[in-house]
Amino acid sequence: METVWIKDLPQHVGKKVVIRGWVYNLRSSGKISFLQIRDGSGFCQAVVSQPVPKITLETSVILTGTVSKHPKKEEYELQVEDLKIVQLAEEYPIGKKEHGPDFLLDQRHLWLRTPKQWAIQKIRNTICYATYEWMEKNNFTRIDAPILTPAACEGTTTLFEVPYFDLGKAFLSQSGQLYIEAAIYAHGRCYDFGPVFRAEKSKTRRHLTEFWMMDAEMAFVEHDENLKIQEELISFIVRKVLEKNQIELKILERDMEPLKKITPPFYRLTHAEVVKKIREMGGDMKADDDLGGDEETLLSKAFDKPIFVEKYPAAVKAFYMKRDPQNPNLALCADLIAPEGFGEIIGGSQREENIEVLLDRLAEHRLPRESFEWYLDLRKYGSVPHSGFGFGLERLTGWICKLEHVREAIPFPRMIYRLTP
Ligand code: 4AD
Ligand code: MG
Repeated sequence: METVWIKDLPQHVGKKVVIRGWVYNLRSSGKISFLQIRDGSGFCQAVVSQPVPKITLETSVILTGTVSKHPKKEEYELQVEDLKIVQLAEEYPIGKKEHGPDFLLDQRHLWLRTPKQWAIQKIRNTICYATYEWMEKNNFTRIDAPILTPAACEGTTTLFEVPYFDLGKAFLSQSGQLYIEAAIYAHGRCYDFGPVFRAEKSKTRRHLTEFWMMDAEMAFVEHDENLKIQEELISFIVRKVLEKNQIELKILERDMEPLKKITPPFYRLTHAEVVKKIREMGGDMKADDDLGGDEETLLSKAFDKPIFVEKYPAAVKAFYMKRDPQNPNLALCADLIAPEGFGEIIGGSQREENIEVLLDRLAEHRLPRESFEWYLDLRKYGSVPHSGFGFGLERLTGWICKLEHVREAIPFPRMIYRLTP
């Protein structure tokens, strides 16, 4: 007998098959029992017309039966002939009643099984896969950046320290960017995709202390082209989710119309224009302020597509960003703000390629030159204009799934007050 995935049941109507999974709901009516089964690929109902042994929620089962189609709906059922219990589950702590977020986060190892959480992880998986696919098609080489690093990339205030043998201290990487910059001189266009760490004291719906970042870096690419690459990539990812994850988006009750609008070009506003706009909308923002969470929310509710906020005051941005030749107080950078109130999903910029200027920047940011000698070397041997960007996987997943908080976008969230399970 063939063992099949629930998602493939439509191809087996009228045939006898085996499915293996878990009972996530059950009811009986007279002599007939209806078991709701999940196997990781999808959900189906199994109808058992013979006496059923004691079964509890989350019991693991192997079922043999004939596949039938629901007379009216696009749903497929298994008419069970044989039911084998693999393990009879103990009383399951997650019930049908509403649970608070802390309880669910404590039960994260079990909460992952519920349909909404299942749908979120499936969409996260599509986002990763679509990213690899787009990168491959566009001549990017994946380069894995180290996680243990000797110095800060994004700023010294948000570093996690770890003792490192006789060498003293190491820091958990905040972004692989600097290393990916090195690799473009070998490969032209590169990206990394892995966990990064921020010892940020931010307790907001957008912050995790451990999250996944994709950093891309391109030789001979300047500011404008950097933004074009980002809008192409993001539009491709959203299109792939719409193609592959209809079932998941329905489970999440995600309105798909706003997602269908995500095509290039995205909106572009300078930081100065945003300050003006935020003030008009009643927000309180000074000319040299960074965009905070509240401003991001305001701005992103006012647009139906992602918005690039370009040319921030250089003072609020990282040391490696190139300055705008037209106004050296500004950085040639852009953050991408997702619509529908979501906020920042990408940070990026053109990079400073001149060694003298970069030395001044290191000094201004009080970063030790010794730790960056290798990075300075990149400006000595065939330096070229180059640009890059990084997206936060949980932010992207959170926006596409329209989640309240990014903690549901990662399997096991790490936040200031949470390190378990
Ligand atoms: O804007 P960030 O700090 O930029 C960088 O780290 C650059 N080195 C990236 C690059 O140019 N290669 O972080 C990039 C993205 C943000 O736009 C956001 O999506 C996400 O990473 N991010 C976080 N996600 C969850 N929790 C946090 N604490 C985050 N901090 C940043
Ligand atoms: Mg940022």
